[in-house]
Amino acid sequence: MASSKRAEVAELADALDSKSSDGNIVRVRVPPSAHTIMARVITIFNQKGGVGKTTTAMNLAAYLAFLGKKTLLIDFDPQFNASVGFGITYDPRHETVYQALFNKQPVEQVVKQTYLSNLDIIPSSADLSGALVELVNVPNRERFLRGLVDKIRSYYDFILIDMGPSLNLLTINGLIAADEVLIPVQCEYYSLEGLNQLLKTIDLIKNNMGHPLKIAGALLTMYDEREELSRNVAQKIHERFPHYIYRTRIPRSTSLAEAPSLKRPIILYDPQGLGAQAYEALARELISQEQAVPLSTDMDDEPV
Ligand SMILES: Nc1ncnc2c1ncn2[C@@H]1O[C@H](COP(=O)(O)OP(=O)(O)OP(=O)(O)O)[C@@H](O)[C@H]1O
Ligand SMILES: [Mg+2]
Repeated sequence: MASSKRAEVAELADALDSKSSDGNIVRVRVPPSAHTIMARVITIFNQKGGVGKTTTAMNLAAYLAFLGKKTLLIDFDPQFNASVGFGITYDPRHETVYQALFNKQPVEQVVKQTYLSNLDIIPSSADLSGALVELVNVPNRERFLRGLVDKIRSYYDFILIDMGPSLNLLTINGLIAADEVLIPVQCEYYSLEGLNQLLKTIDLIKNNMGHPLKIAGALLTMYDEREELSRNVAQKIHERFPHYIYRTRIPRSTSLAEAPSLKRPIILYDPQGLGAQAYEALARELISQEQAVPLSTDMDDEPV
């Protein structure tokens, strides 16, 4: 399977190269095709900014799809970086997650098919920040995204939710919509403190909202084997983080940083590079992962 699939992807990358990079190359899919399995719903979250959430959401989603898993990426960040990364340029006529959240559009209408087979996306827009105000006095305001996900989870094997870096009502919606959280952790000073804070937030969601959220695992990002700091942080996280840590580490890679400017995931830009190999390995690891374990907040968060 792998070599013919890889040839197909290379052909697609060539086809995209010959198009204007500003063209919106995402086709609309209405409705998503029926499926019988209930998706594993995973939120990619860390309240710290710039740690690789969107890069992970885009590239993990692309490789899950490449490995044959029907995958949906929900962009739930008003910065809409993941949407832009898949070639969805802002257009006020676009239906986005915001419209579906408030039932202004049926959810099937906001699901777009990307140019990769098996991969759909629900794009976001800046309107989503308005949801924060609109939700304030609404009953069940923490469960709007969950309601949306429940309508479509039987169509997919995996649903990944890309979150912004804040801690607000959108974040709570993103966490309650998911079964599991995958936490990208940049290998830098103070990342352990951030992790401890994050476990406490998840604990609050669990205790105050009665939602049995699990930790899928921590993912070390922008890892550089040659840097002592990267190695030290990785070691400390292994000593102190009480949950699964993915064996796959995402290396610092120029191609990973460049791919979004060409509006595509790494599989369509530099599939032989180390960044692409790491995200493919991560997708395989996630697929073979046992059930995520229940939350533990038992963590020593002294900085490295
Ligand atoms: N492994 C990597 N190697 C090199 N650059 C990376 C890597 N991962 C992410 N980047 C770059 O680092 C920046 C931040 O990454 P990204 O946007 O994925 O983080 P984020 O956590 O989603 O940020 P935000 O909190 O703003 O949503 C981007 O410019 C991205 O291209
Ligand atoms: Mg992001």
